[in-house]
Amino acid sequence: MLPGVVVLVSDQPNRSAALAEALRGVGRCELVGPDVNWSARETAIAVVTDLDLTRPAAMQCLLGLRTQPWAETCPLLCIAHRTSDKALRQAQVLGASACLPYYAEPHIVVTALLNLINPDEGSLNATVRQCAERAGAALTGLFATAGTNGRVDLQAIDTCVDPLLLALSDGGLSRWLNTIRAHDNATYQHSLVVAGLAAQFATHIGFPEAQRQRLVRAALVHDVGKARIPRDLLLKRGSLDAAEAAIMRTHAILGYEILRASGGADPAMLDAVRHHHEMLDGSGYPDGISGDAISDVVRFLTICDIYAALTERRSYKPAMTPDEAMGILQGMQGRIETRFVQAFGKAVARAA
Ligand SMILES: [Fe+2]
Ligand SMILES: [Fe+2]
Repeated sequence: MLPGVVVLVSDQPNRSAALAEALRGVGRCELVGPDVNWSARETAIAVVTDLDLTRPAAMQCLLGLRTQPWAETCPLLCIAHRTSDKALRQAQVLGASACLPYYAEPHIVVTALLNLINPDEGSLNATVRQCAERAGAALTGLFATAGTNGRVDLQAIDTCVDPLLLALSDGGLSRWLNTIRAHDNATYQHSLVVAGLAAQFATHIGFPEAQRQRLVRAALVHDVGKARIPRDLLLKRGSLDAAEAAIMRTHAILGYEILRASGGADPAMLDAVRHHHEMLDGSGYPDGISGDAISDVVRFLTICDIYAALTERRSYKPAMTPDEAMGILQGMQGRIETRFVQAFGKAVARAA
């Protein structure tokens, strides 16, 4: 996330809510109306407008922006509600650095804005986005076949592991997480966040290449058993009752069985998929194993998984901040490996 504020000016806050959420991956995003008092505001790193620029209030707003000394170096991205030549020319006259049509997806707006803020970053962002999209497509396919016939082809996942590790080392964890989070919520989003955290963690503690690849591979598929959990349960708002929670917990064994039936999963992957909800004190599931019976790979993955779940926004809960999530992990002494929690905290510091 960049330091500084991205100002989103909208004449319809409800329409702009998804865009505001996506822009929070770029910087601190403030959603304001066209009557904003620019001279009373701090300097922004970028301004995005979601306005009908033919309206007098919108024109007043942008003319007011142009009087600010900082506006000269501040990119202005306009979402065009009319895409006629005349409307686009008008946006240029009002100072737009670039225009996008009103139907552009929020993640396209984010990418365009990042390119405006720092053009040199543009190609790196595109590489990371391509990698995320490829991994997302592989996971979508994986979940679809796991759900319909209980078997998966892991080759598509294997081809994503090296590009993902490269995207992480070249682009950094923040960029990876922002790219993933800028996309709409999808089945694979959590898996890609866990995989990114696992890659960062493995690199930070000096895992050899082969071990890093194994951990990332396991992270990508760790929740594949959810493909066989009823959709209304996965999407349920509010907490699950005891019977529903019991069904949800079966995803660990279901995932293990899917991978075992499919072939091509190494023992570490099978172990991770089956045991990523086990706790060192034996209070986890599905087997209630404890202590040394839980491998280091599983201990690593469990920490990444819990942290990802805590920092994700779900339909039933807001996202926790990284500090809040680390606080929860540190409070789980005796259940998860606290030595690894410290290393994990250092690995993801300032990035997640
Ligand atoms: Fe899980
Ligand atoms: Fe998970």
